[in-house]
Amino acid sequence: MPPWVYIRDISGFDKQEVVLKGWLQNRRSSGKLHFLQLRDGTGTIQCVVFKGDVDADVFSIAGHLPQESSIIVTGTVRVEQRAPSGFELSIKHLSVMTLAEEYPITPKEHGVAFLLDHRHLWLRSSRQHAILRIRSELIKASRHYFDSRGFTLLDAPVFTPASCEGTTTLFEVDYFGEPAYLTQSGQLYMEAGAMAFGKVYCFGPTFRAEKSKTRRHLMEFWMIEPEVAYFDLQDDMNLAEDFVETIVCHVLTRCSEELAVLDRDIAKLEKIKKPFPRMTYGDAVERLRNQGVAFEWGHDFGADEETLIAEWFDRPVIVHRYPAACKAFYMKNDPDDPTISLSMDMLAPEGAGEIIGGGQREDDLETLQDKITAHGLLIEDFSWYVDVRRYGSVPHAGFGMGIERVVRWVCGIDHVREAIPFPRMLERLRP
Ligand code: 4AD
Ligand code: MG
Repeated sequence: MPPWVYIRDISGFDKQEVVLKGWLQNRRSSGKLHFLQLRDGTGTIQCVVFKGDVDADVFSIAGHLPQESSIIVTGTVRVEQRAPSGFELSIKHLSVMTLAEEYPITPKEHGVAFLLDHRHLWLRSSRQHAILRIRSELIKASRHYFDSRGFTLLDAPVFTPASCEGTTTLFEVDYFGEPAYLTQSGQLYMEAGAMAFGKVYCFGPTFRAEKSKTRRHLMEFWMIEPEVAYFDLQDDMNLAEDFVETIVCHVLTRCSEELAVLDRDIAKLEKIKKPFPRMTYGDAVERLRNQGVAFEWGHDFGADEETLIAEWFDRPVIVHRYPAACKAFYMKNDPDDPTISLSMDMLAPEGAGEIIGGGQREDDLETLQDKITAHGLLIEDFSWYVDVRRYGSVPHAGFGMGIERVVRWVCGIDHVREAIPFPRMLERLRP
């Protein structure tokens, strides 16, 4: 029996007989030949069925197979310069696992609502496949980045008793009669973890009930959140910059095929090298105003301002020291100006906007308690969090990066909905 191989590895089997297991992507015939485009999840290859090489019934079945039928083929690998993979398979035998029903997704244009309704099938198409392969590589590189630098992975809970990022975007659930919320961020738990392990990170699903339909918001997204004891804002920005450079570089070296499928302008990604420009919120506001944008000091930037600011540079820009009033309660105030927080956002170019948010945390017990109250939150809900400041409090900092925002940017796609396998949006819970 010839070996079962994946199309990705086919180059190692030139002139050899192999078994491929997959699905029929496309089919055409010309006289004594059928050309079957086979997809196995790792790639596609053209399989040639020559009438003289196979049993009569196999030849006849091959000429009538519906798209997406699952098949197992045996044949000989041959170099074929004109094929995208560089190889072709001459088929000796073909067996049908399942004949597919008429496939709803055809090469003609479909509306995005239709495609999202069929997300479970849309995943098979080459663009979606490329995007999610890049997502997988970005995640792998992100984990490796922290794993190989002495960080301990510390998973944060999904059920939480209190908010981290404001009370207006909480998903409430009934936790045995007690109200609980799906986590908005693992940060508060990472802060406790940093005091125990020094350097920690979590990477898990996070939830925001944002009643907005934008190209960058999901209700459920995945966030990677490092947190480091004895780090200040400067250290935090250095870490974020080095991290982003590393994972983009990883995709460039590992995903050239996928980036080609997406027609991504690689030159733009090759520019993503340290140092990234940095500017204060105040300077960004001034520059916006000089550009004629009427923007009031004190507000957080919206998508439009973020896009404008990012356009000033060819790589991500770190904007730091936002007004304390527009950031979360846990941000440390700038010792030089208490109206300013030691916060930072990284804004990516090409309209990608904010990909990272973070900063230095309030480490003083009383100041933190005051801030919790000032933000209209109940101090009881945060007693454990405040407790961390009672026992050897130290400066510490961290950040969160939403992986879908980065996938969207790196892939050069329009909308985050294609950057996650099964998106959860305002009007979409299915499939
Ligand atoms: O800026 P955010 O809200 O910051 C935090 O949650 C901090 N607690 C993180 C930390 O310091 N540990 O969110 C961080 C990042 C954003 O920069 C963005 O990439 C992503 O999470 N994000 C979203 N991605 C998709 N859909 C949404 N609704 C998102 N909200 C935030
Ligand atoms: Mg933010």
